[in-house]
Amino acid sequence: MNATLITSDTLTKPAPSPDKFAPIARPKKAKLPDRLFSDRTYLIGSENAFRIGPQIRELELQGHKVIKCNLGEPDFPLARHIADEIKRQIDLDLTHYCDPQGILPLREAIARIVARTRKIDISPERVVVFPGGKPPIGLTQQTYCNPGDEVIYPSPGFPIYESFTGYVGAKPVPLHLREEAEFSFSGRDLAPLISDRTRVIILNFPSNPTGGVATREQLADIADVIREKAPPQVRIYSDEIYEDILFDGNHHHSIASVPGMAERTIIVGGVSKSFAWTGGRVGWAVFPTTEEAAVFKNLNINYFSCIPAYNQMGAAVALESPLSAVEIARMCDAFRERRDMMVAGLNAIPGIRCRKPGGAFYLFPNIGGMCEKLGAIEAYKKLPVLDRDRSSPATLVQMFLLWRHQVATMDRRSFGSIGSEGQHYLRLSIATALDDLKIGLERIRSAASDVDGFQQFIQEGKHLC
Ligand SMILES: Cc1ncc(COP(=O)(O)O)c(C=O)c1O
Repeated sequence: MNATLITSDTLTKPAPSPDKFAPIARPKKAKLPDRLFSDRTYLIGSENAFRIGPQIRELELQGHKVIKCNLGEPDFPLARHIADEIKRQIDLDLTHYCDPQGILPLREAIARIVARTRKIDISPERVVVFPGGKPPIGLTQQTYCNPGDEVIYPSPGFPIYESFTGYVGAKPVPLHLREEAEFSFSGRDLAPLISDRTRVIILNFPSNPTGGVATREQLADIADVIREKAPPQVRIYSDEIYEDILFDGNHHHSIASVPGMAERTIIVGGVSKSFAWTGGRVGWAVFPTTEEAAVFKNLNINYFSCIPAYNQMGAAVALESPLSAVEIARMCDAFRERRDMMVAGLNAIPGIRCRKPGGAFYLFPNIGGMCEKLGAIEAYKKLPVLDRDRSSPATLVQMFLLWRHQVATMDRRSFGSIGSEGQHYLRLSIATALDDLKIGLERIRSAASDVDGFQQFIQEGKHLC
């Protein structure tokens, strides 16, 4: 029998192809029986950053070098001191079931650090550890919302916020962030969205996909509105997973630090971004009460029992070792250098306008002029209705950039599609080496004036959606 050995090489490098330019066979779609899936199954969205992986791979198998500006994953290795701790714990055989709420040393470390940085009291009993910062998003909606209850979330925002609303039967209420307001918002923007069905209000600073950060004053203003308009059972879900990735002297502020807000706020963080450790699958939430933490612990028991204890010990070291600050500073310096180069370069391309983000590692350029010049807006209008529903002018440009110019980006619709019509933006991750970003920038520059290439691409209609 032929066994395929999976090594780290297999995972990162495209498999060698006997004929680089041969079309790769797409798997045949199975004919499924009717009513195989529940209705609910059709109501969940996805995260396109993961979904375009196979398309990138197809191009790589054809011999292309794709510049990957699609991924929300720091391109740095896991720091030595963290990796060593994980290995040490495996050697100590910390490889069995453990506390479903998260092992105590990690929950203590989280409680200590979140309490110190937010200047609030936190006990480890209010902390729950999850496999990443993503799972508490859906679990929170599921826990606090009955069908018809409302979830307010930033748009553009992390796609999973909107993705889960339909799945849990909640009503999505996007809070649209405007470029003119630096992709932040005020209490005045939030106030009209709060109704007596509101159960969860999601905040995300520093933000994915815009890199927007909030000032202390902004958060105090938002908190005033919440206090005035939302009853105490409404939960604020404060996704602070990018808290350490800040530039230009910005400091991280949490709404939980505003007086009266800790009692309503779920503070969420994780190791994926701060420690470049997306594969560790360790995230956490600090709940307002131990009773709420107990509910989420029970969900953990039901869904996955626990998170690998050796990774949790690694996460405790990541949080508490003084060596981590040095690594984070080095990573932020690299992101800042890339950001400055890319923002200047993008703004020099006619038809593109890009703000300088204060945090995270994404750029969110307005490509309205580029869409017009290429004819993407007209091309979009001519699409068949069904394709139009799944697309936008920025989506066409995203596909054109990928298939014709080999730069992987994400379109605006990938960050909450409800009410995104007429917004022409792309998200570019700068978690890619500076030299590759320079190549990517050049490719975007030539794509921006490749009117004939775009028209041909549309006529071929091959990779439109
Ligand atoms: C805003 C935001 N929240 C949560 C997550 C999930 O992170 P994790 O990999 O820890 O699940 C991400 C990842 O991209 C994110 O951007």
